[in-house]
Amino acid sequence: MHAFIIHGGKPLNGTVKISGAKNSALKLMCAAILTEDPLELHNLPELDDITSMARLLAHLGLKLSSHENNELTLQADNITHLDAPYELVKRMRASIIVLGPMLARFGKAKVSLPGGCAIGARPVDMHLKALEQMGAKIDIEEGYVLAECPRLQGAEINFDKVSVGATENILMAATLANGVTIINNAAREPEIGDLANCLVKMGAKIDGIGTSTLRVEGVDKLHGCTHEVIADRIEAGSFIIAAAITGGEIEVQGVTPEIFGSCYDSMLEAGIEIIVGSNSLKAKSSKLKAVDITTKPFPGFATDMQAQFMSLMCLADGNSHIKETIFENRFMHVPELMRMGANISITGNEAVVHGVAKLKGAEVMATDLRASFSLVLAALAAEGQTKMSRIYHIDRGYEKVEQKLRALGADIERIIEEK
Ligand code: EPZ
Repeated sequence: MHAFIIHGGKPLNGTVKISGAKNSALKLMCAAILTEDPLELHNLPELDDITSMARLLAHLGLKLSSHENNELTLQADNITHLDAPYELVKRMRASIIVLGPMLARFGKAKVSLPGGCAIGARPVDMHLKALEQMGAKIDIEEGYVLAECPRLQGAEINFDKVSVGATENILMAATLANGVTIINNAAREPEIGDLANCLVKMGAKIDGIGTSTLRVEGVDKLHGCTHEVIADRIEAGSFIIAAAITGGEIEVQGVTPEIFGSCYDSMLEAGIEIIVGSNSLKAKSSKLKAVDITTKPFPGFATDMQAQFMSLMCLADGNSHIKETIFENRFMHVPELMRMGANISITGNEAVVHGVAKLKGAEVMATDLRASFSLVLAALAAEGQTKMSRIYHIDRGYEKVEQKLRALGADIERIIEEK
């Protein structure tokens, strides 16, 4: 297994080009199932999760041809399988997003339930209930969702919670349904807007993009298109915090303030100075201040930035209250940060971070994707050496992470650990 050795204490300075958003790219790849024409995606990040999705789509029979410059063409003109086996789905929960498109275009799908996940139970009941409302017959057998419906029917879906994945699954299913589908309480994450914009280019009829009510008028057929994946706001936010926590200055390229939602305000409140360019942000910190945050669906503070922000708060002046409301087990980075000298107490879904003057390098373990980057941040700011194991988590979602950090002056090395 790979591990990082990080020697902290160096300010990070320079410019970093933000990659395409993982959580947009994965869903855009699934959109290819909706048409027999080629879908050409640009700015696709090179990540383990993208490889896992490519493997699943290839199993279904899609033709995938990757070109240089992060481009990939997908074509579903000869689907051979209508099943997503556990072996392929268990690697990545986003695989459930093939369900809506397969059912919509082929009237049938068998998709493994994703199973547990380190950050929470993450059920898919909302996806299934909404598809049933659209006329699908759904059975669960031996860990698989068996779904059937000759043609999905438009329906009014009222989600009782905001779910990114359920919104995306139903949005794609609705594009080929008979009649109009209204999705109320839809998630508004920028990645959903990106997917919706691509679907419109493919011939879908969608109103309300960017709002919590999506109206989709089903069409008989979609066609191919070329689409560029939006920049990854979580990667960008992670690098902004890298500037702040190390006392450096980093320009993140390819992003604007709006894509961060309220996370942007929290970063400013924490003392990060941000100069806004035309399509870039230059960040540096002055004195770090404690800020309270509560994770919420977009435009609230993103749960995917909670761990990184907590690392910053470890070195801020004062006490910061961090409340996690999206996932029930997303504080696994806390004991690792405490090994590095952080002072954090947890009660239920709330952590209180008491700012300390410094962190110290230690041996730590990555527990999930965003937690991994929070530990990298702490290690970059800490005195001495940190050895971080299980970094396969970070490879799922941060493209060329150590190359990017090294180019900014970080002392980070990847080693192969003996078992
Ligand atoms: C997406 O997960 C992202 N993943 C997550 O990013 C992100 O943390 C999450 O949205 C929230 O922003 C991808 O896009 C691949 P949800 P998703 O459905 O769609 C509950 C990362 O680090 N829920 O919005 O699975 C659920 O348990 C990852 O990149 C139900 O109860 O999240 C959670 O509490 C981690 N029933 C809440 O809703 C359902 O049927 C929001 O989950 C669906 C969800």
